[in-house]
Amino acid sequence: MKKIALIGANGMLASALIRQLPAEYELLPYDLPEFDLTDREQVVALREQAPHIILNCAAYTNVDGCEKHRELAMRVNGEGPGLLAELALEVGAVLVHVSTDFVFSGDKQQPYQENDATGPLSVYGQSKQLGEQRILQSGLKSYFIVRTSWLYGADGNNFVETMIRLAKERDELKVVADQRGTPTWTDDLAQALFSLLLTEKYGIYHFSNSGDCSWFEFAAEIVNQLKEFEPVKVEKILPIPTEDYPLPATRPKYSVMSKDKIMAATAIRLTSWQQSLARYLYQRQIDRG
Ligand SMILES: NC(=O)c1ccc[n+]([C@@H]2O[C@H](COP(=O)([O-])OP(=O)(O)OC[C@H]3O[C@@H](n4cnc5c(N)ncnc54)[C@H](OP(=O)(O)O)[C@@H]3O)[C@@H](O)[C@H]2O)c1
Repeated sequence: MKKIALIGANGMLASALIRQLPAEYELLPYDLPEFDLTDREQVVALREQAPHIILNCAAYTNVDGCEKHRELAMRVNGEGPGLLAELALEVGAVLVHVSTDFVFSGDKQQPYQENDATGPLSVYGQSKQLGEQRILQSGLKSYFIVRTSWLYGADGNNFVETMIRLAKERDELKVVADQRGTPTWTDDLAQALFSLLLTEKYGIYHFSNSGDCSWFEFAAEIVNQLKEFEPVKVEKILPIPTEDYPLPATRPKYSVMSKDKIMAATAIRLTSWQQSLARYLYQRQIDRG
């Protein structure tokens, strides 16, 4: 059995990883309040467990909150992954670290490649960029840094769940239409991470579902598909520009990522964002009885 230390084990992505954990792995879960990724002594103490794999899902993920709490963001998302890389070096483990499309500026009009220049627009993006840099600077060779985008799934606050709630509460929704990206279902990302672990092709990868959309198009699809399962109140969904929905953190206008590299390295098949959404809503219905 390979021991897998799962950091941030109570989060949304971690819950998908736990549900899909292949039988060959023994799970060692760590999260706040018992375990703090930014506490060097606590990280060093994981040596005793001698994990074969360290999978980091822990992050300060409140993008707008990061603007106010810069120091905390830099510590959790920036320095924390560096501590895990040091641990991985010491115990000879593989480190899997999850990063974000928000490391990019969004100036491109073609999907971002793994080696494209980063240029984060927000504190969250800067802190995640620092996390990547700390891993690269550590000297660790056995790492996977996997950037993903617009993540949703069971057991988490996310855009899909917000739209479902609002569609039942309101007659009209206004949703930003000038930011494009790709939604990602946590269950698909979990599969992709386990597939990567079967390879020794270490490095930086991108993973999301296939295709792309604006938040407005995503919201419209969520509501349309939801109607198959339950009644909604909303009658109108209106596209608005970013400036009509001001938020503390600036988001990239375009953050679609190329998945060519992960597809060449693994046997995974990409699912369109619409199809994965349908599978998620179906699964959600079953889970709720
Ligand atoms: N959500 C998205 O749309 C999105 C998009 C792209 C990339 N990502 C990346 O994907 C990964 C997983 O995201 P997610 O949405 O699953 O996150 P999540 O649900 O917010 O889970 C993160 C977990 O990490 C824990 N955590 C926070 N600070 C910690 C610390 N100092 N020590 C130990 N644990 C700590 C959190 O605990 P508390 O809840 O108690 O704080 C939470 O259980 C993250 O790296 C994120 O940056 C997410």
